[in-house]
Amino acid sequence: MSYPRRTHSAGDLRLEHLGQTVTLNGWVHRIRDLGGVWFADIRDRGGMVQVSADPEKWPQLDLRHEACVAITGVVRARDEKNRNPKIPTGDVEIELTAYDVLGPAGTLPFPVSDEAQMERVNEELRVKYRYLDLRRPSMYRRLAIRASAIRRMRQFLDARGFLEIETPIITKSTPEGARDYLVPYRLEPGQFYALPQSPQQYKQLLMVAGVERYYQIAKCFRDESQRADRQPEFTQLDLEMSFIEQEDIVNLIEALTREVINGLIEEFDLDKEPVAEFVRLTYDEAMEKYGSDKPDLRFDLPLLTVSDLVKDSEFAVFKNAVADGGAVRCFRYPGGAKLSRKEVTALEDHVKEFGAKGLAWFALDSAASEASRELPGGLHVRGGIGKFLGDEEVLALVQATGAEAGDLLTFIADDYRASCEPLNRLRLMVAEQLGLRDKRKLAFGWVLDFPLVEWNADEQRWDPSHHPFTSPKAADMEFLESDPARVRADCYDVVVNGTEWASGSIRINKPDIQSRIFSLIGVDEETQRSRFGHMLDAFSMGAPPHGGIAPGIDRMVMFLTDDENIREVIAFPKLGQGYDPMMDAPSPIDATQWADLGLTPPKRPE
Ligand code: AMO
Ligand code: AMP
Repeated sequence: MSYPRRTHSAGDLRLEHLGQTVTLNGWVHRIRDLGGVWFADIRDRGGMVQVSADPEKWPQLDLRHEACVAITGVVRARDEKNRNPKIPTGDVEIELTAYDVLGPAGTLPFPVSDEAQMERVNEELRVKYRYLDLRRPSMYRRLAIRASAIRRMRQFLDARGFLEIETPIITKSTPEGARDYLVPYRLEPGQFYALPQSPQQYKQLLMVAGVERYYQIAKCFRDESQRADRQPEFTQLDLEMSFIEQEDIVNLIEALTREVINGLIEEFDLDKEPVAEFVRLTYDEAMEKYGSDKPDLRFDLPLLTVSDLVKDSEFAVFKNAVADGGAVRCFRYPGGAKLSRKEVTALEDHVKEFGAKGLAWFALDSAASEASRELPGGLHVRGGIGKFLGDEEVLALVQATGAEAGDLLTFIADDYRASCEPLNRLRLMVAEQLGLRDKRKLAFGWVLDFPLVEWNADEQRWDPSHHPFTSPKAADMEFLESDPARVRADCYDVVVNGTEWASGSIRINKPDIQSRIFSLIGVDEETQRSRFGHMLDAFSMGAPPHGGIAPGIDRMVMFLTDDENIREVIAFPKLGQGYDPMMDAPSPIDATQWADLGLTPPKRPE
């Protein structure tokens, strides 16, 4: 098909083009038919420009929303009152002289050009017609940020001698804690490939192969329940290095983050502060100060364990918790004394949602009131459990937490581990109320020295906290069998604004240690051979010391675009249960395919 080819991109036209005849190829964005004059915005990937047509000259004009068109016209200056300073082409418009409809558009499922209305369109409909949804400039921008992020990562790593290497997609299971997606093998019914949960084993084998520096923009597949920041199919910047220590990975990632993110902030004029210093915390410190291994570090508001100060308290909840081997932990809400009873109850309801049994509290005032009691030194304690606590006890808590008049002190008494998540949520909720979760800030931090394994009470076994290839700390090796909970790993996460962005570790490179870890997590020797024999063999053929990390690319775009839903930053995402309404996948296969695979279709209920 021959058609008038574009002379300009819609977004390029300015006053300097006045009087020129130009041709655009693009889409009809918004139409405004004012009776005496007809306007439309023409949009292409470079921007938009207004086109005007005089209805007397164009009585049969047939340009519909989202039709794909070639438009020819003369560039005119807009009247003063019609100028639009909000768009770069706002000083000009194109007076229509000819047009061709290259791809007609019929009825649309939603109003593509109206961003405000699009906010309210049902997500399933948007994903079903994703090719239309992606026409919106806001969606195109997300794709562009993502593409630039990947380009910048490649540039950074290429310049440092990394090789980009593709690893197989149909392969053997690589455990990362989720279920596998399985692919039946036609030639031997009953045999299956698994899609990789990550390229973990291959990248380690590349280190054994002497590659030394590998990376990949890697698709990972995990059949696990979805969340706002979790898709069944997602992308990592996966990398691995030999002859390095944890510190080398830390330095590399800090430099990469700075270069990539600061570059993107500038290129896309993102409303973000440049990347600041990375905070470093051990896992234990993170749990103690913030109750989470992915703390939001944009603000401090630390927690404090106060068990020693209240172990003899007359408030039985405190005394009993400590006597039972639990802990009493305190969170200071600065300025929280002014909260109403109802507002305090809302805090309590919130922590209960995350498993707390309650939230004990008292307020500190500077002046006396009916319900308050004066403490030596002039502070007044009011409300909640204040009446159960002695003056000395309150003063000790005030001193330990640095609390002041106007603050609310809140407490959770429980098993230490059980108290972490509700306290984390309390801290986040209060920060939200105080306006401390500043969108302009990206607060990066390292969480280091994770425990090697976690007790899985349901299955009655130890699970790896990261994955089974992570190296235990040399100093803790002696406790591997006797006290696994005590063993720390050479494992590190990058967190940003309360989410986990990257995770990695120094790996095991000795077959005997690898085998001990497998045994610890309940993989017997026969299964070690059948599932991981290739790893154990490789580790007995000159495996170098090595380690790596994998930042999530989807999550990175999310924190740059302030999206809370990961689906927004993926061109073709899956919905709720892993469903793609556009392709209608997953979908049934036909009888021949069942037969080819040597499989029997499940019986449908009558
Ligand atoms: P891990 O499983 O912690 O580590 O994943 C690393 C990073 O990948 C991202 N991520 C996800 N993003 C979207 N949807 C998901 N379902 C999802 N799961 C993980 C997160 C996470 O921090 N092989 C190891 C890495 C290594 O040890 O080098 C691994 O995959 O941003
Ligand atoms: P109660 O004695 O159950 O009326 O509780 C008195 C106060 O202690 C209430 O504010 C409860 O929310 C709080 N509380 C109860 N159990 C706990 C707990 N385990 N930790 C902290 N506060 C609690």
